[in-house]
Parts: sequence; C-alpha cells; structure tokens
Amino acid sequence: MIIAIDGPAASGKGTLGKRLAHHYGYRHLDTGVIYRAVAKALLDGGYDLTDEARAVAAAKELDPEKFSHPELKSQRIGDAASVVSAIASVREALVNFQRQFAADPPGAVLDGRDIGTVICPNAEVKIFVVADPQVRAHRRTLEARARGEEADEALVLADILKRDERDRNRAAAPLKAAADAHILDNSHLDIEGGVRAAIAIIEAVRAGR
Ligand code: DC
Repeated sequence: MIIAIDGPAASGKGTLGKRLAHHYGYRHLDTGVIYRAVAKALLDGGYDLTDEARAVAAAKELDPEKFSHPELKSQRIGDAASVVSAIASVREALVNFQRQFAADPPGAVLDGRDIGTVICPNAEVKIFVVADPQVRAHRRTLEARARGEEADEALVLADILKRDERDRNRAAAPLKAAADAHILDNSHLDIEGGVRAAIAIIEAVRAGR
C-alpha cells in the first residue's frame, strides 16, 4: 500500500508520515528533504538557486545517505528549497526516485506537496494535512529553538506565508489537495491526535467505508 501525505510547510506532515510508516511497518520518504538537498548543493557550491542546469545536475547526483544532514532542516535551506522546487526540470529529474521508493515492498508513506497529485496519483490513501498558519508558525518556532536556533515567531509566520504562496502558485506541480484526498486539519490536535485521526482515515479507506 502507498500512503500519500501532502500539505503546506510546517503542517506536521513529516512527523505524521514517519509515525504512520512506523505504525504500518512501511518505509517513509520525506520528499521535502530531496528538494532541500538540491538547494543545499547549490548553496554549498556558490551557485545561484535559479541556475537550472546546475540544479538539475544536483538533482541527478543526489546521495540519499546525506538526507539526514541536520542543516537540511534549517529555515534558510527550506526557503531555498521552495525556490529550486519551482523549476519543472528539477522536479522531473526527481520523479523516478520517488516512484521507485513508493513501489518497493512492503509499502511506503511519502510526504510532500505533490505526492497524491503527481508522484503517486494511484496511492490507496491520500491525506492532505492543513493547519492554521499561526499554529504552524508557533510549532516551527518551538522546533527551531529546541534545535538551538534563534527564531522570531513573527518572522517565521511571514516565511510560512511566503512559502505557501510560492508553493501554491507555481506552474509545476503546485501544492493542492488531490480530488480524492482526505483533509486532516490538525490545528487543534497534538501529534498523537493527528496520528489517531490519520489511522482512522486509513482504516476507513481499507475497510471500503
Ligand atoms: O516540506 P518541506 O518544508 O521540507 O519542503 C521544502 C520545500 O520543498 C517546499 O517549500 C516545497 C518543496 N517541496 C516540493 O515542491 N514538493 C515536495 N514533494 C516536497 C517539498
């Protein structure tokens, strides 16, 4: 089974994806990390984020072993990822890797922006996670501080709104819920509550309800 989790920045879809994968014994891919790794490669090399040829080359040379690099979680890399992910040829270069990951047994949970719409349109279960921007900004601020980074909640909110706008309005695979996605609003749920709500959706789909 393939479970597609999509949603905007800081909606908690990554943590949810990881928890669901653990619950079902599936593999998990946080696809945002892929775009973050491409952005980091460009920044490290001193290249412009809009240098399409370099960005595509970086996408083709990705090393999944580096996906756990802690710097990939930073806001600076997240912003840069939002820019490179708008380049259609970069997205194309990353499609096969994601589809292959999804197809390998025993099953997979992928989270991102376009999993249910573009990467795995046939996923058995699609969940689109949403939360109020203020709530997302608050959570992200706490996470950044827990990592020892300084974070100003108002700036984090401005960044989230800017990124939402860019992710929603780009021509290539814009952020949007698939027609058959189940919307999960976790504004008023903690992590456990979100996991329970997602499992309820998945079990209902499996039972054909
Ligand atoms: O989910 P995230 O914050 O790690 O994603 C970082 C950026 O990568 C986000 O602004 C948009 C992009 N992204 C994407 O375009 N498609 C995906 N499947 C995942 C992320």
